[in-house]
Amino acid sequence: MPYAHITGWGMSVPSKVLTNDDISKMVDTNDEWIRERTGIRERRIADERQSSASLGAEAAIAALKVADLLPTDIDLIICATSTPEHIFPATACIIQDKIGATKAGAFDLSAACSGFIYGLTMGSQAIRAGANKNVLVIGTETLSRFIDWKDRNTCILFGDGAGAFVLQASEQAGGAYGAVMHSDGSGSDLLTIPAGGSRTPTSELTLRTGMHFIHMDGKEVFRFATRVMAGATIEAVEKSGWKLEDLSLIVPHQANQRIIDAAARSLKLPMDKFMVNLDRYGNTSTASIPIATVEAVQQGKLRPGDKVVFVGFGAGLTWGALAAEWTGPKQATRRVVKAEWFPWFAPIRSVLRRFGRLIEGIIFGRKS
Ligand code: UT7
Repeated sequence: MPYAHITGWGMSVPSKVLTNDDISKMVDTNDEWIRERTGIRERRIADERQSSASLGAEAAIAALKVADLLPTDIDLIICATSTPEHIFPATACIIQDKIGATKAGAFDLSAACSGFIYGLTMGSQAIRAGANKNVLVIGTETLSRFIDWKDRNTCILFGDGAGAFVLQASEQAGGAYGAVMHSDGSGSDLLTIPAGGSRTPTSELTLRTGMHFIHMDGKEVFRFATRVMAGATIEAVEKSGWKLEDLSLIVPHQANQRIIDAAARSLKLPMDKFMVNLDRYGNTSTASIPIATVEAVQQGKLRPGDKVVFVGFGAGLTWGALAAEWTGPKQATRRVVKAEWFPWFAPIRSVLRRFGRLIEGIIFGRKS
């Protein structure tokens, strides 16, 4: 059975920074309260040209460069997102087109902030089953578009950004090991965008009452998160046949410093075993774990051979964890063609395909 190695990682965040002081000019809050209650100092906000697909495509290309692969080598794209470009088509398909991953199947995965864990689990299992060889897992968000900037309960927490991993099949032991995914829909009302779906389609009333924004019972989500983080970590470690002491690093979903502190206390592990960068990005939902991983690698906190657990929780309610042995980057080959060139040529291919469909329509007629 092939192993699923993590051979590429990349991230993309908007350059615009929104500080706590900036938010205190919009709602009744202050830097001290936000830092003490969440650990967040600032977050990134997408500009009008950026979207979940554009950030996701940039993160994907960065991950492909590390893995020394081209977009055309990818056979599956899983895009975990809570803020898709549309209800359909999938944001994964828009990213597929943007990066020119012409041989890839592509779909979105909706598990809120646990989405990246769910995506990694699905992607690595597709490789373990022999169905796919090179899988791109992306977590990408433009949460700022779904925030009520008058609601201090939510607007202080979230930020925009994207991260991506490349998973590759290998006969060598390593990569993804034990994983768990859990859900409890009885808590589906605790964190939700109530309108815009089939249950409550967008209407003048839903717009007037702000039901197209994120609504959250912060206290309840907090209690749930502190309950499940440690348990899911232990499950993934035990499924891998490891012990907690074997872990070099835990990369948790970056939601609130106090939630991570509580997990560390429950697991009786020191805080230096936890990667934390939420102070600079806030909660970027599905993107938080891959963004934190990229920075952990950059800071030398995650090295080849290290045992690591990725653990998250989110709306749904959902939670899960995946244990992996960190592979590190592959030996680079001397490629004539480079992954970063693809986003320049892919739009030309896209336009030609649209033009081809137009000509086909004219020749064969638009009526059946
Ligand atoms: O990916 C999952 C995403 N969601 C989460 O992870 C959310 C988890 N929950 C949390 O992180 C926390 O519950 C929050 C940060 C949202 C809130 O922190 P808290 O410590 O649970 O605050 P609270 O809601 O209990 O409010 C405490 C006080 C209240 O005042 P009173 O009633 O005690 O006078 C609030 O009105 O703080 C007040 N408050 C604020 N004050 C200044 C609530 N939000 C703010 C604010 N600035 N932004």
